[in-house]
Amino acid sequence: MDFIGRDILSTEDLTREDIMAIMKVTGEMEDRAKKERVFSLLSDRLVAIIFLEPSTRTRLSFVAAVHRLGAKPVIVADAKSSSAQKGESLADMARTVEGYVDCICIRQPKTGGAQEVADAVQIPVINGGDGSGQHPTQALLDLYTIQKEKGTVEGLKVAMLGDLKYGRTVHSLSYVLKDFQPEYLFCSPDELKMPEHIITDMEKKGIKCTQTSRLEEALDADILYMTRIQRERFDDPAEYERLKGSYVLNKEQVEKGRDGILVMHPLPRVDEIALDVDTLPNAAYFRQAHNGVFLRMALIAMVLGKA
Ligand code: NCD
Repeated sequence: MDFIGRDILSTEDLTREDIMAIMKVTGEMEDRAKKERVFSLLSDRLVAIIFLEPSTRTRLSFVAAVHRLGAKPVIVADAKSSSAQKGESLADMARTVEGYVDCICIRQPKTGGAQEVADAVQIPVINGGDGSGQHPTQALLDLYTIQKEKGTVEGLKVAMLGDLKYGRTVHSLSYVLKDFQPEYLFCSPDELKMPEHIITDMEKKGIKCTQTSRLEEALDADILYMTRIQRERFDDPAEYERLKGSYVLNKEQVEKGRDGILVMHPLPRVDEIALDVDTLPNAAYFRQAHNGVFLRMALIAMVLGKA
């Protein structure tokens, strides 16, 4: 499996071997970054970090990853400061940026937009989130976190809870685990269920998927993956207002949950995890966010042929 020049747009097309290779390089990056902090693996490369939607973790960890690899970032930090504001297409923007850099990492609001960027250019493109579609780097760092925290990614019962309709992280997470014999519990309000095509794809792989709206059922799992209700994706603000407080996980519930239950969240949290959960050893979400730098270092180095 050769990663040189490859686009990372979705977790759907990643094989078990691809994922194992990425996990291995991520581990190497973590070891090296902890010893050397910054090194000159990619000192002759420039990486565009184009974020046309809000982001703290994904954008800053991409930028940090580029710096730690000794490469230089070229940054668009918000849509208003780019010609997207003037109506430029993603394809035209991509063809322009291709002349400036060696790799493009992009977040933008259109589902399928990362593919449009990749189709327009020859250099590798990494999807940092495309609307309510996919968020592959998040799912890969989630998997890395699970491996570190649980010691395995095989045969786990994974409960995903919250906005499963618009949440791109849970779409990518479902596919990233598909070859590791998971069992899924999808817990959401009826209006925000996991898209049917994803459930069909999982069932085709022989994965048991259960749907519920009851948070209590999600406590009997190895991984409890919480998500935010994605306000920015709602056409009707009143519908968001009605659904926003659907779930709040608290300390008492976690303590009643399956032994060793790992609470994860891609962050940002709004109010779906009470602050008292933070003090539990089960709360992995800030450790999870830290792993993002190593995973993104690995992917950038791999697609640029320097891993
Ligand atoms: C997620 C995203 O942008 O999809 N955040 C992230 O990248 N860590 C989840 C979210 O915004 O709710």
